[in-house]
Amino acid sequence: MTGAVDRELVQESFSEAPLAGSTSDPHSHLMPSRLRQSKIVASPLRHIDPHAVSRSARAETRNREIFLPPVSVFRWWARRTESVNGTVIDAFSAERCASNKQLLVVDPFAGGGVIPLAAILRGHNVYAQDINPWAAIGLTAMLGLPAPDEIRESVASLSHRITPLVSAAYGTTMSDGQRGTITHTFRVATANCPKCDNLNRLFPHAMVTLLARKERQKPEAILACRNGHLTPGRHDRNTRCRECRTKVEPTAAYTPRRVVTCSNCGERTRLSDLAMQGNWSWEVVLVERARKGFRELDTATATEIATAANPRWQPQRSLGPIPEGQETRVLHRHGFKEWGDLYPNRQRYVLEQLLKLAPNCSENDRVAELLAMAIVGSAEMAGLCSRWDRWYLKSFESMAGHRFNFTTLTVEPNAWGDATSGRGTVLRRLDQLIKASTWLRENTTVRPVHGPVDPCGPQERPQGVTVGWGSSETLALPDRCADLVLTDPPYHDDVQYSELSLPLRAWAALDITHAAGDAVVNTAINQNSKGDDYSHLLSRIFAESRRVLKKDGHLIFSFANRSASAWADLLSALDAAGLCAVGCEIVHSENEQDHAKRGVRSCSHDLLLDLVPTGNHQLKIHFPKNDLEGDEPDFLRVVAKWFLQVGSLPPGWRAKCEDELLEAAFLGRPKAEV
Ligand SMILES: C[S@@+](CC[C@H](N)C(=O)[O-])C[C@H]1O[C@@H](n2cnc3c(N)ncnc32)[C@H](O)[C@@H]1O
Ligand SMILES: [Zn+2]
Ligand SMILES: [Zn+2]
Repeated sequence: MTGAVDRELVQESFSEAPLAGSTSDPHSHLMPSRLRQSKIVASPLRHIDPHAVSRSARAETRNREIFLPPVSVFRWWARRTESVNGTVIDAFSAERCASNKQLLVVDPFAGGGVIPLAAILRGHNVYAQDINPWAAIGLTAMLGLPAPDEIRESVASLSHRITPLVSAAYGTTMSDGQRGTITHTFRVATANCPKCDNLNRLFPHAMVTLLARKERQKPEAILACRNGHLTPGRHDRNTRCRECRTKVEPTAAYTPRRVVTCSNCGERTRLSDLAMQGNWSWEVVLVERARKGFRELDTATATEIATAANPRWQPQRSLGPIPEGQETRVLHRHGFKEWGDLYPNRQRYVLEQLLKLAPNCSENDRVAELLAMAIVGSAEMAGLCSRWDRWYLKSFESMAGHRFNFTTLTVEPNAWGDATSGRGTVLRRLDQLIKASTWLRENTTVRPVHGPVDPCGPQERPQGVTVGWGSSETLALPDRCADLVLTDPPYHDDVQYSELSLPLRAWAALDITHAAGDAVVNTAINQNSKGDDYSHLLSRIFAESRRVLKKDGHLIFSFANRSASAWADLLSALDAAGLCAVGCEIVHSENEQDHAKRGVRSCSHDLLLDLVPTGNHQLKIHFPKNDLEGDEPDFLRVVAKWFLQVGSLPPGWRAKCEDELLEAAFLGRPKAEV
């Protein structure tokens, strides 16, 4: 598309102080813009200092829940930062020379809601939409948290009602004879050898767990011998198994590349083959007990084993089948067929009982719904799919690192929770809700949230906050109402939001079918994997964003990808949507750690992209500042060169653009794939 755009390709030098990101006083850096009276459209990105913003984004990602407490309300993957997005909003206001004017900020890919949060912290009106029902109810809850006292009261009520069950399910005796609570229950996978039928316990490592967190520098550990016996020992020294006297080397890995060796006949079998043969089961071997700030790891007693398997823990609800997909593949391969299979019966039973009690714990439906969200949220610690950090003594979510984690040594949490130990428990989540609500009230005026609304319903200009649930090919907004569409589309196939959220949606009794219009590439289910599907879908969403933008509005978002064709798809979508580029900037990735977790295809920088609806205006193009060195910034500068032509891309651009991108050193094979 060639729009009627007069491009003035000039490097800029402005005297305004750049913006660096601040939650305490979002308007502190605002300076008058010299361009205000001019018809020239300039990019708000010119007000941003990429180094300062990268620094504050890094600090934020190190401890998100302290920096932005509301994000603990519901799990989302690859959340953005308030540092970058807040700075963009401030830059936009600075460009308009109107720091006090209330804007309408629209986020059509709102996910974990960091952008809407950045907007409400600055007192703006917000319309946030996501296709995912867990995100939609999470956003609605998070952006309009009830008062802390109301939450506190309901928590007290739930706590009172659940106590008898928690005592029955997790009550135990500590090794010193005092009463205590089971905080974690460990199970090892067991399977018969296909050759000699020996029952093998499939410990992944000889070092099962330290007894105290690593920083306490105590060497005592629980080890497993090759015959599957647990034995006391040290992580820094070989030892003899207490039971069979074989030598135990604490550094040994027993299931390298997911292959197990039979301790009796030496037969080597793939874990997935054992799972497929269906003779796979889980045996309780170890527990962590806690009492008043003290925790102990120990082999499970007969009573603790019997309690874990008590037939009383009979779940009532089916959570439905696990569908085929890119991320769910690993679950199928290891024998999980239904979402319920990821949980021991006790965890399922306790969660079901909590969900039954929640509606009776507050007269305010929103508060009761919030309790239910916290209960459902704790289901991310699925007791047959969560790994133990044997050095730092904590469990990992089943979807840590943006994938489902399969392990042969799993940790069942005490679903209700205990003050001494346990991540992501209901108790912890409820406590975080109170903190989040307090923080939100200290930092903004909390207004009721409207939603989740149907995007195909009435088109209304939001006063306050509106959340939409559905594909952003349609937004429930009138034409030309938004000042700023600030967003963060999925990065091609990087994160499978829909699949990762499925267990939580199953628990929350939300829709678990694949939504038409999901803008993520997923080849396992042929979603947007053919030809121009992805690009056309993005284009429809961007065209809808353009429809709702005021004439002088901007669409700003960040994007990162190692694939030349993913970039070309994006540029083509933007061009076809009737938008033209006005600026871009390279910033340090907000999701560096997330990318790193994925190992391959990692990016450590994002490109911030700024566009306006095509029209008869002169554009003062903002080029990325030129001072970052390295293959990736070099690559992004080539991307920037092409991006800045969006709105008037020349015929035949795509092949040339992809060729140039493919020549970049950054697109050489990533190390992890070599
Ligand atoms: C990169 S994430 C957004 C993350 C968010 N900015 C945050 O900080 O948490 C992209 C989001 O787009 C959503 N999405 C995918 N296709 C969509 C569509 N057609 N309409 C609306 N949302 C969509 C996904 O569910 C996902 O939450
Ligand atoms: Zn042994
Ligand atoms: Zn064997």
